[in-house]
Parts: sequence; structure tokens; C-alpha cells
Amino acid sequence: MKVLVVGPGGREHAMIMSLLRDPHVSEVHAAPGNAGIARDVPVHPLNAQDPDAVVALARELAVDLVVVGPEAPLVAGVADALTEAGIPVFGPSREAARIEGSKAFAKEVMAAADVPTARAVATSDLAQVREAFEQFGAPYVVKDDGLAAGKGVVVTDDRERAEAHARECLDAGGSVLVEEFLDGPEVSLFVLSDGTHVVPLQPAQDFKRVRDGDRGPNTGGMGAYTPLDWLPEGFAGEVVERVARPVVDELRRRGTPFTGVLFCGLAVTSQGMRVIEFNARFGDPETQSVLAVLETPLGQLLLDAATGRLSEEQPLEWEPGAAVTIVLAAHNYPGAPRTGDVITGLEDAAREEDTWVVHAGTARDAAGNLVSAGGRVLAVVARGADLGEARERGYRGMEHITLDGSHHRTDIALDAAHGRVALPGVGAASSSPADPDGGTGADAPPTARTAEEQA
Ligand code: AMP
Ligand code: GLY
Repeated sequence: MKVLVVGPGGREHAMIMSLLRDPHVSEVHAAPGNAGIARDVPVHPLNAQDPDAVVALARELAVDLVVVGPEAPLVAGVADALTEAGIPVFGPSREAARIEGSKAFAKEVMAAADVPTARAVATSDLAQVREAFEQFGAPYVVKDDGLAAGKGVVVTDDRERAEAHARECLDAGGSVLVEEFLDGPEVSLFVLSDGTHVVPLQPAQDFKRVRDGDRGPNTGGMGAYTPLDWLPEGFAGEVVERVARPVVDELRRRGTPFTGVLFCGLAVTSQGMRVIEFNARFGDPETQSVLAVLETPLGQLLLDAATGRLSEEQPLEWEPGAAVTIVLAAHNYPGAPRTGDVITGLEDAAREEDTWVVHAGTARDAAGNLVSAGGRVLAVVARGADLGEARERGYRGMEHITLDGSHHRTDIALDAAHGRVALPGVGAASSSPADPDGGTGADAPPTARTAEEQA
């Protein structure tokens, strides 16, 4: 099987590494890729958001499958164009991708499919925003609707700040969602779908804030780990039956079947599991951790999803143990990152046991040096018998790497490795002991939360 992977980042590099391990896959191509991807497979220049260009490249390479990594090409209709051209594609149509592109649409689908999520008011009227604040109380959650405006999500105890964010979105001609606050740790669960069948991968957890202790602004993700031993028994199965299957059924019923991966962003709250958001693609950097322990060949699995042949009977196989991903970010990320700085030490990092480097924002300069080319530059991924060992290896690997002005979190998977992720509420089933020091688990205390989502 020949596969083309579309996208430029760490998620795509991790998928390519996994595809290269699949005996069914004879050839992998990437477009546009990055410097690390270019070392592993042939790369091709491409405007990934131009559906005709993607179809032309897939035809030229005569690939059997196109895997679309990021959401922007999906929203631009790349999967639709490939399907029309008769080329199998892993990734949903433009219509189905609205489950990520519009928060109001996602809420509407969830309401129709009876999926548990935060109560929300969608409005473009400031008086209704204020009413919703009264109704839900603090902390206040205000979300800009849609990808386009990109002003994102604010979670704050400061009512004036919440109202200011709402006003800003409304003044720009948009609408907002005001939501009830979900207490409890967040979980990312990727569920593959061929439009009908649904197969969950192993849950992972992402670290969204830029600094240790879940402080500072939101990022695309500073690290991730899997598995999540602190989850209640049967969690993935519950998400499939209460969230993924109803949503996939609802989208099929509407004539816009969902093919690809439904990324369920969840909170484990004192009231039970709730959906925070959906994405129509794999998460970055959760994918780096999840694929590190997936034993089932990835290429065949993605082709099965793309061609309506996903099997719910055949359970996926997983390596025992854990995987931890630590992201190295450029100077000033998540603000405008500085690029063009030289990166060294990757070979030494990858010499650590069960440790490798996944490239995200990397390029070659005119002299051939490896340099930074984006906010999240690379990630060290390590496997171990448990989270503690995976962490040790990953952080040892990171010590070898130099990049001027760069930063990374030092507490990825730390609480989980020490059994300190506490589920809120008395009724919450947890096998791990509550933190005797009163640790806050995956989330900072609400008073510290003022998030600006960087899409
Ligand atoms: P979203 O773009 O909807 O994923 O929101 C970005 C981030 O804001 C999430 O990953 C959460 O950390 C936080 N967030 C979003 N909605 C809520 C909510 N209802 N309650 C608490 N935190 C939230
Ligand atoms: N890591 C979260 C995301 O990919 O959206």
C-alpha cells in the first residue's frame, strides 16, 4: 500500500513513523512535511488547503490512501475532492468536519444525539450572555464560535473579563457560547470511524498550559501521556456508547457520515463524563504518545476506516507500559515564536533507550543546519514499563537537545506517575488514591484559570 500523509507537524511525523512500521505499507510520501519527515520519507511541496492540488499529487504518486492530518484542509474540502476523484481518504468531509469547525453545530448535534456535555447558551446578545453568567455562576466559560475569528476560549473567575471577551466576539459580528464550568481532569479519546463503525484508541492526556503546574496561557499542547490508570474502569467503552456512536449515527442520519477520527475532548467531572469539544482529526501531541504504544498496524487500520471496513470485533493491540511526549517550544511561544534558531543534540537524545524525536516546526537553513521553524519545534517521545520510566527516559533525552531560548514543561505525566490525579466528587470511581498533599490533578485551581485558546 502506498500512502500520502498531508500536513506539516509532529502529529504527521508520528503517523509516518507508525506507518513505516506497518508491513502492509510499501511506501510513504508526505506533503509538505518538515525537516524530520524529509529525513524519513520523500516530501513534496503542497498547499494542503487546495483540494485540486492534493488530488493532483495523490494521482501523480498513485497512492492507495491519503491521510489528512490537520483540520484546515478538511474544512477546505480536501477529503470531498479526494472522494470525488475515487481516492480513499482518511479524514471527514467538509460538512462532517463542522463538528470541529463550529462549536454551536457540535452542541446541536450533541443535543440531537443526547450526548452528555456542559450546559450552554449560544447567543449574539449581550443581555443573554449576562443571564447565562447568572444561571451558571463562576468560573465563567465563554467561547467564540467558529474557527475563523480565532479569539478562542476564556475560562475565568473574573466576570468583567468574561464579559469583555464576549463583547469583543459580538462586536466583531460573531456569536458566543457561554457554558457551565466543568470540574475535573481532561481526557483525549480518539475514536476511529468509517461512517458506521467506531473503534476507540487508548485514552491520553494533554497538557495545554505553557508552564508547569498548568499555569500561563493555553497552547496547542506541551506534552501528553498514555495510558491513564486513574480513569474509571470501562471509560473508553462508555465514551464510545454515550458519545462517539451516537454522534456518528446522527451525522450518518443527516447524510454527512463521519469518516476518520473523532477526537473526543472530555472532562471527568463530579457529575460524570462530559464532552468539552470535538475535533475531526488526531490530536497533537497526544498522537505521539498513543501511536508509540499501538501495536496494530496503522496503515491497514486507517485504510479500513477510509473504505467502510472498520471492524468492531477485532480489538486493537497495545504494547504494555506507557508513553510520554514532551514538547520543546520556541522562544516566546505561544506568542509569536522566534524561528531560525539552530537545534542540536537530536542523535544523542534518540540514543536513550526506547526514546525518539518527533519533528514539528523544523526546517533546514541555507547552510543545511537544522533550525526551528514554528512554535512547537519538536517532541521527545519515550516508552517505559510505566509512566515513571517513560518520563525518566524522555527527560533524559531532552537534556541532550539545545535550542536557544526554547522551553518545555518539566511536569508532563508527573501527577499521574505518582497516583496524584484526583477525580472530583465522592461518587467518582477512582482506583488511584487521592493526593494527600491536596494536589490539583490535571487542572489548575479555578482562580488561576484565564485561558486564551491558541487554535
Ligand atoms: P475548547 O476550545 O472548547 O477545547 O476549549 C479549550 C480549553 O478550555 C479546554 O481544553 C479546557 O481546558 C477549557 N474549557 C473549555 N470548556 C470548558 C468548560 N465548560 N469548563 C471548563 N473548562 C473548559
Ligand atoms: N492537543 C490538542 C489538540 O490537538 O487539539
